[in-house]
Amino acid sequence: MDENKGIRVKPTFLFFALHLLLFTLAKCDSSFPPQVNYLIDCGSSHPTQLTDGRTFKSDRETTSLLATAEDVQISADSSLSPSIPSSLLPLYQTARVFQEESTYSFYLSKTGRLWVRLYFFPLSNPSRNLTSAVFSVQTNHHVLLHEFSVRNNDSPVFKEYLVNVSDSRFSLKFMPKRNSFAFINAIEIVSAPDNLISDSATALSSLGEFKGLLTSALEVSYRINVGGPTITPDNDTLSRTWETDGSYNIFPQGSEAFSVSSKSVKYPHTGVTPLIAPNLVYASVVHMKNAKFMQPNFNLSWMVNVERSYSYLIRMHFCDIVSKSLNQLYFNVYINGIEGVLALNLSSQTKALATAFYQDFVLDASDITNGSILVQVGPTNLLPGTGDAILNGIEVMKISNVADSLDGLFSVDGKYKGPNSTTMAMEILAYVGLALAVSTMLLIVIVCIIRWKKRPQGLGNHNRFSSWLLPIHSPMSMSSKSSCRSSTTSSSHTSKKRGHFVTPQGPERFFPFSELRKATNNFDEKRVIGVGGFGKVYLGTLKDGTKVAIKRGSGSSEQGMNEFRTELEMLSKLRHRHLVSLMGFCDENSEMVLVYEYMANGPFRSHLYGFDLPCLSWQKRLEICIGAARGLYYLHTGAAQSITHRDVKTTNILLDENYVAKVSDFGLSKAVPEKGQVSTAVKGSFGYLDPEYYRSEQLTQKSDIYSFGVVLFEVLCARPVICPTRPTEEINLAEWAKKQHRRGMLREAIDPRIVATINPQSLTVFVQVSEKCLADCGVDRPSMGDVLWHLEHALRLQEAPSGIDELRM
Ligand SMILES: *[C@@H]1O[C@H](CO)[C@@H](O)[C@H](O)[C@H]1NC(C)=O
Ligand SMILES: *[C@@H]1O[C@H](CO)[C@@H](O)[C@H](O)[C@H]1NC(C)=O
Ligand SMILES: *[C@@H]1O[C@H](CO)[C@@H](O)[C@H](O)[C@H]1NC(C)=O
Ligand SMILES: *[C@@H]1O[C@H](CO)[C@@H](O)[C@H](O)[C@H]1NC(C)=O
Ligand SMILES: *[C@@H]1O[C@H](CO)[C@@H](O)[C@H](O)[C@H]1NC(C)=O
Ligand SMILES: *[C@@H]1O[C@H](CO)[C@@H](O)[C@H](O)[C@H]1NC(C)=O
Repeated sequence: MDENKGIRVKPTFLFFALHLLLFTLAKCDSSFPPQVNYLIDCGSSHPTQLTDGRTFKSDRETTSLLATAEDVQISADSSLSPSIPSSLLPLYQTARVFQEESTYSFYLSKTGRLWVRLYFFPLSNPSRNLTSAVFSVQTNHHVLLHEFSVRNNDSPVFKEYLVNVSDSRFSLKFMPKRNSFAFINAIEIVSAPDNLISDSATALSSLGEFKGLLTSALEVSYRINVGGPTITPDNDTLSRTWETDGSYNIFPQGSEAFSVSSKSVKYPHTGVTPLIAPNLVYASVVHMKNAKFMQPNFNLSWMVNVERSYSYLIRMHFCDIVSKSLNQLYFNVYINGIEGVLALNLSSQTKALATAFYQDFVLDASDITNGSILVQVGPTNLLPGTGDAILNGIEVMKISNVADSLDGLFSVDGKYKGPNSTTMAMEILAYVGLALAVSTMLLIVIVCIIRWKKRPQGLGNHNRFSSWLLPIHSPMSMSSKSSCRSSTTSSSHTSKKRGHFVTPQGPERFFPFSELRKATNNFDEKRVIGVGGFGKVYLGTLKDGTKVAIKRGSGSSEQGMNEFRTELEMLSKLRHRHLVSLMGFCDENSEMVLVYEYMANGPFRSHLYGFDLPCLSWQKRLEICIGAARGLYYLHTGAAQSITHRDVKTTNILLDENYVAKVSDFGLSKAVPEKGQVSTAVKGSFGYLDPEYYRSEQLTQKSDIYSFGVVLFEVLCARPVICPTRPTEEINLAEWAKKQHRRGMLREAIDPRIVATINPQSLTVFVQVSEKCLADCGVDRPSMGDVLWHLEHALRLQEAPSGIDELRM
């Protein structure tokens, strides 16, 4: 269990190591003269100097920047609302009104991150009623505001964005809605330090890191100085405003504010500079009341309201000004109930007290269910310590969405990118799929020809295809000669009731389609976690917060319908710790949807290769294989009818949050008597398919054993089962592994990351049983029970030596 958490936290350390490099040059310098610095007081006839020293230019000085057909300058005819801070009052006194689309173009002497700050206040003026203005604002690539208006004429609206610009021209376009107009009171376009926001952050909703912040536009939603005073632009080099935390702290009874002189705050030579946050942020803190006298048992909690359907970047600032010495403060960090860091050890991050530190997290839209973000810090029971927990500052930033927008689902070219706009994308996908299929076929033909030319001469080649030449699992691969047989099997099912295909007997329930639509945010493409022959799999969140995997059938192909029905029938009969369990289904208005328990760590294959996930140890791999073997053993022997899975592969072995393996995807499964055989069309997956089954079209349990043997070698070698880019002899893993083993050279094929850690005896047992699984004739292959026994033996051998060492020590 803890291993899982360790993995979640690890990428952050890498990320800080990266920072270490980036920041060595930046030093602890708090000055930042911005290279790009356009400040405009729109509608003003003269330059305006603020109390913080910055001067905003007048309209006359900035005419060359603006392209507009018609604009009007207006100024307030009465004194402004008292809610406006006096330091900003001059900016809100005038406004510029655009009747038509108008564009400011800024020349950038330096590309990269820019602050875009917009000031809006619907000042009262007889010529225009600014509260009735409706307009959009966009940059070259991002929509900042869509059909925006300021209805409340008591308080100003300040919008602050961070965009990353790579062109030397940056445009800001104001687009009035038809029959309306746009207005703006002041604009800031100012360079921000490039290393203010890096590309990656700790992902909360999935394993590992979130990447892609550099290409996203960000909108600052909240910037809070926890436990300290308001910080105004004159106290922050980057002219930021930090509010106090009082109105967000939802458990003030347990909180205690504390502060030290801002001079005592140190910045490490790496990672954090005063540009990240001024020392006033780090000099004040909220920590747990009475932590000194008793072990507190609650979390400090802050809640902010945000817009659903957007993901957010959350930056938390920490500085240990409460401890008396190092190595006393360890606490947990949670965001919306998800563990961000368990037992954060500030001493190891900063190596000193009163030293600034921050960490970035990205919370996915799917984890913002009721429109709020809850940030919590609390005591950890994993490590000893004072039991205290601290927080110095929080920044919350909205991340632009699929439409590159921070407001709505229209992109800059006016195209709707919402849930129903996927048909285009699907078409493109279909073309890509077709192109891929064609090129795969071509490749197979070429490889066939090469192999045919190299075939051993003289020997009677009785129908001996290499197993890698076998068909891919797809509706098209059903050979014509067997289609009559398969149609007889399916006709027995076609006498179904309309609507409900089956009435499952298990504990699963019927889900209304509307509930599933809600759970997946209208089948949002961003929630797709897998795509199979049958359709897409979405991550869903039910009303009670339970995460589920939702598989939605696509189209109405006979194959899809058969698979849906088979899977539902099979799973409603089966229940086992190592089989993915079905929670329910929906077959309303010709939708075919299955709802499963959510497997947080996804397919086993992703942990072996192709994804940058942490390397699984040999022991862990054995445990997962044993889990999968138990699931298959149950299928073969434990259920009322013995069942052959027919599609055993590493993508059908899923891992839950504790890396417990569960076998999934029963769409092709079939009841086959334990020692018998069934004639059937050949189906399965390329590279895993039993050659005997392919030749004879007779399915037996031993076909699963063959596929599982391929899985075992895949686990050992951590490479794809078919790898067309390798030399001919190595393309098919099953064949190559057997050949290498015969030559006594299997070691070279083993995953180099773990080869040194494998106990030789454990390896021998493992390879012996794996090789037996791949025997040409089914009768020579072991049963699932035998395989399981050998794998457990291999695991014991792997664990044994370290156990002995421990005893000696
Ligand atoms: C300005 O427009 C708003 C909304 O369109 C309306 O509610 C308000 O009464 C108008 N104010 C004036 C002074 O006309
Ligand atoms: C954003 O910034 C990074 C480096 O600061 C740069 O590589 C990238 O091209 C920039 N532009 C965009 C649009 O992502
Ligand atoms: C902000 O800076 C001004 C001087 O620039 C100083 O007088 C004021 O005390 C500072 N505010 C805080 C909260 O320290
Ligand atoms: C703190 O919050 C997390 C997540 O909301 C929760 O799991 C944990 O039990 C809480 N801790 C305490 C001590 O209440
Ligand atoms: C916290 O980090 C410090 C410094 O790296 C280290 O000495 C200490 O052992 C760590 N504490 C725990 C409990 O791991
Ligand atoms: C969101 O849910 C939490 C509890 O899960 C509740 O305390 C909070 O008030 C809710 N927020 C909103 C905005 O409804």
